[in-house]
Amino acid sequence: MTIKTISRMGKSNLFEGSTDVSNLQATDIIRLIQDLHDTMIAKGGVGIAAPQIGVNKRVIIFGFDKSERYPNEKAVPKTTLINPQYKPLNDEKELGWEGCLSVPKMRGLVPRYTAIRYWGTDENGNHVEREAHHFHARVVQHEIDHVDGVLYPLRIEDFHDFGFEDILWEKITGQPYPF
Ligand code: NI
Repeated sequence: MTIKTISRMGKSNLFEGSTDVSNLQATDIIRLIQDLHDTMIAKGGVGIAAPQIGVNKRVIIFGFDKSERYPNEKAVPKTTLINPQYKPLNDEKELGWEGCLSVPKMRGLVPRYTAIRYWGTDENGNHVEREAHHFHARVVQHEIDHVDGVLYPLRIEDFHDFGFEDILWEKITGQPYPF
């Protein structure tokens, strides 16, 4: 069990691309996946990408049954994706609120494709390919952005819709701020 320190926005590696993983069985990759998992659970995230713990390799983890950080969102399947890719199913985008463990205590309204197909390899070497919509699609796009060196604030169109989580919480969730 290793909970890693999360790199926060400002750290230059978060704005750099990541390299493909060629050997899934390499001990450093097995360790990396375990560290991502432990760190995401400890921080209550719905997703995490390797650059956030200082490793610029194309590995992401996401998924939850219920999330305190996104209380109104439906479950997303718990997934490890190595060398992840996606394609939008059409041109439609929607705005939705996002946070990020690398941008703590903030939320922003971000346009994302509403429907995507995504694929990659899981921790057992199996091909994973799914269609995803809405928040599920949003999470995948957010995490793949991380391995492409993009953080969500770079995608915000109107900075009136960027602010502190505790201030925005009721507007976003309809609930009192729980943290
Ligand atoms: Ni993030």
